[in-house]
Amino acid sequence: MGVSRILEGIVAAVVLVSFVAARPAPVQVYGCGPSAVKLRDPPTLSGASPGLYWTPPPIGWIFKPWNQVLTSNSQAAQLRNFQWDPTPVTHSDPTGPMNDLSSFQIPHNDTIFTSYGVAIPNDTYVAVLDYRGTGILENATSQYSWLGWGCDGNGFEYYVSYSTAAAASGTPAGIDVMSLVDTGLDQATTDRIVAILKQSENEEIRNIAKTFVPNIQDGGRQGLGRITDCDDECKTNKDLIGIIG
Ligand SMILES: *[C@@H]1O[C@H](CO)[C@@H](O)[C@H](O)[C@H]1NC(C)=O
Ligand SMILES: *[C@@H]1O[C@H](CO)[C@@H](O)[C@H](O)[C@H]1NC(C)=O
Ligand SMILES: *[C@@H]1O[C@H](CO)[C@@H](O)[C@H](O)[C@H]1NC(C)=O
Repeated sequence: MGVSRILEGIVAAVVLVSFVAARPAPVQVYGCGPSAVKLRDPPTLSGASPGLYWTPPPIGWIFKPWNQVLTSNSQAAQLRNFQWDPTPVTHSDPTGPMNDLSSFQIPHNDTIFTSYGVAIPNDTYVAVLDYRGTGILENATSQYSWLGWGCDGNGFEYYVSYSTAAAASGTPAGIDVMSLVDTGLDQATTDRIVAILKQSENEEIRNIAKTFVPNIQDGGRQGLGRITDCDDECKTNKDLIGIIG
């Protein structure tokens, strides 16, 4: 999820997000579609509503091949075919640090760029992760909070996450929606998510909810396979020089 808040320059880039529950959670069986949408406010914001019946995703749930389909960040939306492939840093410890690996194309160029960092589950707040980039992004930090997760009206899983402003790039706080399919959520589920966010008790969330735009998912990576590993070269993030402002 996320990406994008940290690296944005001319084209804006991405970083992502992610998370694993900070403590064990029961597996909640959610229904699908708009009536099953449950969201909380970011727990770190003052006056945040905990969300009725909200539960964090089950351990390991987040480790899936995600596509960013809706974002409040209009610059990040210009990145093409944004994917996020989180994995645990230590395979046997799905609640520990997470490899935060995103990949995307830019307008008029089919080269696939990657952005890597490590996200550490926050020890105070459940389903909140503290991200830090590596290599040229070593000073880029952001905090991600899971706001919601479930499956849409077509039965495909999705999640909604909030990320704090990134001081390094002057990027504002924002909210992203990720789906297992690049065509995104059914309209009714999307509408329900946005409507709930617009009614948040927190003014920042209400304002962010007015600014959603679809990410560009144009099929330009179909058949290419996911990027799930980041070697030492990848971790330098140096291919982003010239891409991020
Ligand atoms: C796409 O971007 C890569 C990396 O910056 C660059 O080497 C390549 O020349 C670009 N291709 C086009 C068609 O602009
Ligand atoms: C956990 O989140 C709180 C609130 O944003 C923050 O102050 C704290 O530094 C975070 N903990 C870590 C270890 O990053
Ligand atoms: C990160 O910040 C430190 C301390 O300000 C600085 O020495 C270092 O060069 C920065 N790293 C990058 C990649 O900008």
